[in-house]
Amino acid sequence: MAKGIFVTATDTEIGKTFISGAIAAALKGRGKNTGVVKPVASGGVATADGKLLSEDATFLMLAAGIAEERRQEVNPVCLAPALTPAVAAVESGVAIDVDQLITACRTMITKSDLTLVEGVGGITAPIWQDYLVADMILELQLPAIIVTRPNLGTINHTVLTVQYARQRGIKLGGIIINHWDAEHASVLERSNLAYIERLTALPVLGKFPSVPSIGSEPADMARLAELAEKHLAIDQLISLMEGEAQL
Ligand SMILES: Nc1ncnc2c1ncn2[C@@H]1O[C@H](COP(=O)(O)OP(=O)(O)O)[C@@H](O)[C@H]1O
Ligand SMILES: [Mg+2]
Repeated sequence: MAKGIFVTATDTEIGKTFISGAIAAALKGRGKNTGVVKPVASGGVATADGKLLSEDATFLMLAAGIAEERRQEVNPVCLAPALTPAVAAVESGVAIDVDQLITACRTMITKSDLTLVEGVGGITAPIWQDYLVADMILELQLPAIIVTRPNLGTINHTVLTVQYARQRGIKLGGIIINHWDAEHASVLERSNLAYIERLTALPVLGKFPSVPSIGSEPADMARLAELAEKHLAIDQLISLMEGEAQL
């Protein structure tokens, strides 16, 4: 049984963290004990006392209402180089223990009502040697959602990601389009949306707007939850996470 979803995207910097945070904030707002995991992060930021912190984990914890003391559970491995983890690890002289990452995800899933696991980069990003994000999704047996862009080039990236996921046997729950500007969406964005729906035959579970001024105050997270309730299909996402959705 699922009890969670894996959040991947068509590329890095598409909005996996932001959208995962928005979903987590909405779930928390509904009173769910919400788990978040960033099993491995790269591009970690060093603190004054020399600790490496993942900003993704920070945002996810804030959105889910998880205290700083639990950072290790949320993000067991954080690497400094802003490279794919498999390479960032080698550059840092460390070996990634994939089993440790899987255990961290499973522990969070067990402890929480619903859990969001954020990947790195896109679906074929190497985590360790030839173990890719797709391998992790399969091992966790979670349904995946794909965050994608609304603008030029997105049909190609989205269709290729969906095709690869299906070829690997990954269950896909749907697509979330990030940075959607409903008011100014032109023929470009509207036709991208229509083609993505038609060519992938997946549901679009939300079109999320750009929200420029989200900070780290509780009020910001409340606003994020409100926006998620408005722009994302939270009920459908919950049934997906509970393993009840038809995939
Ligand atoms: N809907 C949005 N509104 C405003 N800023 C966003 C939105 N989505 C993403 N961002 C910002 O864009 C950048 C990349 O998003 P992020 O979620 O970190 O991508 P990923 O996790 O896929 O690498 C971050 O600085 C993030 O805060
Ligand atoms: Mg991220």
